[in-house]
Amino acid sequence: MKRRYLSHYLWRRAQSIDELAGMARRRLPAFAWEYVHGGAEDEITLGDNRRAFSAWGFQPRTLVDVEDRNSQTTLLGQPAAMPLAIAPTGYNGMLWKDADIALARAAASRNIPFTLSTVSCNSLEAVAEAVPDARLWFQLYVLDDQAVRDDMLARAQAAGAETLLVTTDTVVLGRREWDARSFVNPRRLGLPYLVDTALHPQWAWRALWPQGLPTLGNLMKYLPKEQQSAASAASFINQRMSRRLTWETLTEIRERWPGKLLIKGITNATDAREAKRIGADGVVVTNHGGRQLDGAPATLDALPEVVDAVGEDLHVLLDSGIRRGSDIAKAVALGAEGVLCGRATLYGLALGGEAGAAHALDLLRDQLHNLMAQLGRPTLDQLTPACLRRTPYVAVGSDAPNRSGSRSPAGESPGDLP
Ligand SMILES: Cc1cc2nc3c(=O)[nH]c(=O)nc-3n(C[C@H](O)[C@H](O)[C@H](O)COP(=O)(O)O)c2cc1C
Repeated sequence: MKRRYLSHYLWRRAQSIDELAGMARRRLPAFAWEYVHGGAEDEITLGDNRRAFSAWGFQPRTLVDVEDRNSQTTLLGQPAAMPLAIAPTGYNGMLWKDADIALARAAASRNIPFTLSTVSCNSLEAVAEAVPDARLWFQLYVLDDQAVRDDMLARAQAAGAETLLVTTDTVVLGRREWDARSFVNPRRLGLPYLVDTALHPQWAWRALWPQGLPTLGNLMKYLPKEQQSAASAASFINQRMSRRLTWETLTEIRERWPGKLLIKGITNATDAREAKRIGADGVVVTNHGGRQLDGAPATLDALPEVVDAVGEDLHVLLDSGIRRGSDIAKAVALGAEGVLCGRATLYGLALGGEAGAAHALDLLRDQLHNLMAQLGRPTLDQLTPACLRRTPYVAVGSDAPNRSGSRSPAGESPGDLP
C-alpha cells in the first residue's frame, strides 16, 4: 500500500525505492524528474525491465537456520558488502550540489563500488580527493578525439579508478521524447519549464545555490574558456561521441587500460563472446535503463544467455530495473555476480543528498537480507535457479510508461546528454 506524504521531509521514513521515487517526483521540477525517470520513445523497454523481474517468483525452503544472513561478496575480485554497485549516471548535479561526491560517499560508507560517469558534474580528480576511501569505477563514453580519450584514461588511472566501464549502447542518443519537450535546443529550458523550475525553490536551493547550473567537470579541460557552460559541455559530448566505435576500438582501449575492463551494453551471447575475445574482464548486461533502444530485451531475460556464453570466464553484472532487494536476488540466482543501480540511488540523492542515497542503499540491503531469510537461503551462494519459479501473474511496480503528456513531433531529439 502506497502512502501519500504531505511533506517533502519524510523521505527517511520511506520503505521502498518506489516510495522514494514518488517523493522525488514532488521535490523536483518536471524537467529534472523526467530526465531521471524517463525512458526512450514508448518506454516499452523501461516497463519490460520491471515486468521481467515480476515474472519470477520464489521457491522458499523452510526450517532452515537463518540467524546469520550474509550478503558479503566479491565484485571483480574485491570485497563488497552486497552484490551491488552504483551505476554511472550523468548530470547528477541537476539533482543535488556536488552530487557525484555525495553518491561516492554513500557508496563508500556502505562498502560498495561507485561508478563515475564521463558526463559527471564533479570531476574524477574532485571525487578522488573528496572521497579517498571510495572504490572508484570510471565509465567512459568513447569520443572521436583519441587524444581526449587517452587523456581521460590517464586521468582515471591517476585518480585511482580500479575498473573502467566502456559504454557501448550510446553511439547515438536514444529518442527521449520527454527531453525534447523540456528543452529548446541547445539544452535551454522552454518557458513553461522555466516557470515550473521557479516553483521549486527547495530544489533550487539544494541543487543550484549559489553556483547555478552545474557544468560537466570531466570535460572542462577540453573546452575553450567561453564554452564551459553546462549547455556547451553537453553539446560537445553529443557532437564528439564516436559513431565509429567498434571492437577494434575496444581492443585499443584494452591495450591502454591496465585495470579491470567491463563492457557496458551487452544483451546477447554473440557480443558477450566478442568481449571475451578482446580481453575484457567482464560485461554489464544492460539496456541503459530503457533510455536507449526502445524494444531492446529486458536485461533479466537476456542474462541467462550471456551467463551461458561467458559466465565461466568473465564477470557478468546486470543493470536496468533494480528497485528491490528481491531484484538483486533474482539476478544473482540467474547467474549475475552482482548488479548496478542507477535511478534507485538517484531518487534518494534528489531528496537527501548523500544521506538520501545511503537510505536507498540501506533499503536495498535490508530487503535483500529479509528476503534471504524468508527464502531459507542465508548466503548468496545458495541463490540459484532452484530458488526461483515462473509466475503467471501480472506485473506491479512503478515503471509503467509514465506520462500522458503529448509526444514530441518527429525529427531529431534536441536532448543531448547521454
Ligand atoms: C539519469 C540517468 C543518467 C545516466 N547516465 C549514464 C551515463 O552517463 N553513462 C552510462 O553509461 N549510463 C548512464 N545511465 C544508465 C545507467 O548507467 C544504468 O545503465 C541505468 O540507470 C540502469 O537502470 P536503472 O536506472 O533502472 O537502475 C544513466 C541513467 C540514468 C537514469
